Amino acid sequence: MPGEPGHIPVLRDEALEALRVSSGGFYVDGTFGAGGHCAGIAERAGSAGAILAFDRDADAALRAEALATRVDAQIIFVNAPFSEMAAEAAARNFDPVDGVLLDLGLSSLQLDDAERGFSFLREGPLDMRMDSASGEPASALLARLSEAELVQLLYDYGEERQARRIARAIVRERANRPIVTTTRLAEIVEATIGRPPGARIHPATRTFQALRIAVNDELAELERGLEAALSILGPAGRLVVISFHSLEDRIVKQFIAREVKGCICPPDQPVCTCGREPRLRSSGRPVRPSDAEVERNSRARSAIMRVAERLP
Ligand SMILES: C[S@@+](CC[C@H](N)C(=O)[O-])C[C@H]1O[C@@H](n2cnc3c(N)ncnc32)[C@H](O)[C@@H]1O
Repeated sequence: MPGEPGHIPVLRDEALEALRVSSGGFYVDGTFGAGGHCAGIAERAGSAGAILAFDRDADAALRAEALATRVDAQIIFVNAPFSEMAAEAAARNFDPVDGVLLDLGLSSLQLDDAERGFSFLREGPLDMRMDSASGEPASALLARLSEAELVQLLYDYGEERQARRIARAIVRERANRPIVTTTRLAEIVEATIGRPPGARIHPATRTFQALRIAVNDELAELERGLEAALSILGPAGRLVVISFHSLEDRIVKQFIAREVKGCICPPDQPVCTCGREPRLRSSGRPVRPSDAEVERNSRARSAIMRVAERLP
C-alpha cells in the first residue's frame, strides 16, 4: 500500500521491521509527510490497529484523510509538532503505544514546492517554515539577527566552516536590499565562498540547512519529541528514528545511550544517588540504506536509522 505519489519513504521496510508492527497494534507516526511509512504501518496493523499521526505541516491533513479511506486501520491525524504527542495521545486514551516512528526533516513534497522556500534550486520566498501558519520565516530571521548571531547559527546548525564570511556577506547585502528569495541567498553564498571543483554539494547547502533548523527549532523539538515518545511507549514498545544529518543523529544516539544507561551520577561516584533506572534497550547497530535504495532515491543517501526498545 503506497502513500501519496511524490515522496519515496526512506528505509521503509527496515523501519516497519524495526517497529515490529503487529496486527491490532497502536502506533504513533510523528512525521506523517506523504504517508508512505504510515500506509505500511496501517497495512500491517490491520482493522484492529490504529495510528496517531502528526505533522506540523497542515498540507498533510488532506493526505492523511485520503489514506484513512484506503486502509482498514484507524488513522487519527493531528496537525501539531510531534513534541506534543504525549499530551495528544493521553487526551485520546491512545497510550501506551506499541511503537513510535520519527522520520525527520522534510518530505520531497515540501522540498519540491518552490513557494515553501526550502530549496536553493527553486526561486521562491525565503520562508522554510514547516508550519506556514506560525513562527518567523527565514527572511525575517536573516533580517533580524546580528552578524555575530548569524555566524553562530551557521556554525551550530550548518557546521559551516565559512560561517564568518557568509555572515559578513549577508549583512552587507541586506543593507542594500532585503534578502527575501531562495535564489538570492544561494547566489550570495555562492559568490562569497565559491564552488570548489568536484564539490559534492551546492555551496549553499549548509546555509540552508542551518536556517531551516533555526526557523523550525528542529533540534530542541527533537529532544522534546524523544522524551515524549519514551513517556508513551508501553513495555517492549519500539522507538524508531530516521535522521538525515549528524546534528540530529547525535541527539538520537546520545538520548538512547543515556536511557540505556539510566544512572547519570559522575563515573567516579562509588554509589548511585540519582536513582535513575534504564528505560531503553538499544536494538543493535544503526541501519543505513542499501546502495540499491540510494540509487533509487538519492534523498536516502544520508539517512541513518536508530532503534530502541522500552524496558518493562
Ligand atoms: C521526511 S518527511 C516524512 C515522510 C513520511 N515518513 C512518508 O513516508 O511519507 C518529514 C515530515 O515530518 C514533518 N515534521 C518534521 N518535523 C516535525 C515535527 N517536529 N513535528 C511534526 N512534524 C514534523 C515535516 O513537515 C514532513 O512532512
